[in-house]
Amino acid sequence: MRFLITAGPTREPIDPVRYLSNRSSGKMGYALADAALARGHEVILVSGPVSIRAPEGVTLVPVETAREMYDAVAETIAGADVAIFCAAVADYRVAEVADEKIKKTDESLTLTLVRNPDILGSARNAFDFRGILVGFAAETEKLAEHALDKLRRKGCDLLAANDVSRTDIAFDRDENEVELFYKDGRREGLPLASKGQIAKEIIRRVEGLVE
Ligand code: PMT
Repeated sequence: MRFLITAGPTREPIDPVRYLSNRSSGKMGYALADAALARGHEVILVSGPVSIRAPEGVTLVPVETAREMYDAVAETIAGADVAIFCAAVADYRVAEVADEKIKKTDESLTLTLVRNPDILGSARNAFDFRGILVGFAAETEKLAEHALDKLRRKGCDLLAANDVSRTDIAFDRDENEVELFYKDGRREGLPLASKGQIAKEIIRRVEGLVE
C-alpha cells in the first residue's frame, strides 16, 4: 500500500531570523515511516524541519510552514491508501512577516496571529480522501473527550492520542504511550514503549483496518 505520513513541527516565520514552532522532534512520525517501510509499504514522508535522517527508501518532501505542508499533502494524498497525520502543525502564523529583523525599540511587542489551514481536517472534504485516515491528538487534559471530538470532526478511522503534559513521553522523547480511538467506538491503550514499537503496533492495526 502507499502511505502518506506527516511528521515533525512546522516553523512559522516572524522575521528573517525568528519563527514560532514547537518541540516536535519528528521521532514519532519517522518511526511510523520506518515501520510502514519495514512492512513493505511505499511511504511519502512530508516533514517539517527536524534533525533526524529520513529512513532510506521513503520519498521525503521537506517543508517549513503549515501552508507548505498543506500544499505538499494536497499534491500527494490522492495516490495514498493510508494517510497518517503525526506532524505538530502550528495552528497560527504571524499575520505579517517582517522583511527585516525586528528591532527592540519598544518595551513590548504585539504579534497578530492568524489561523493556519487544518490539514487533517481538510482530508475528507477539500482533498476528497477516501482511504484510511489516521490522526494524532496531543492533549494536556481531558484526553479521551478531546480525542473523540477530533476523531469525529476530522473524519478519522483511527486516532492516536498522547498526553503531552507528561515529560517522559511524546514531544522529543524516545518513548510514547498512546490511547487509540477507532471510528467504530473501540478504544485501546498501547502501553509505554519505544516510539519504534508504538509505530509497529499502529501500522499493524492500520493494516487490519484495510483487510
Ligand atoms: O515529533 P515527536 O517529538 O516524536 O513527538 C510526537 C508528537 C507528540 C508530535 C506526536 O505523537 C503527536 O501527538 N502529533 C500530533 C501533534 C498535534 O499537533 O496534535 P493536535 O492535537 O494539535 O492536532 C490534531 C491532529 O490534526 C494531528 O493529527 C495533527 O497532525 C493535525 N493537524 C493539526 C493542526 C493543523 N493545522 N493541521 C493538522 O493536520
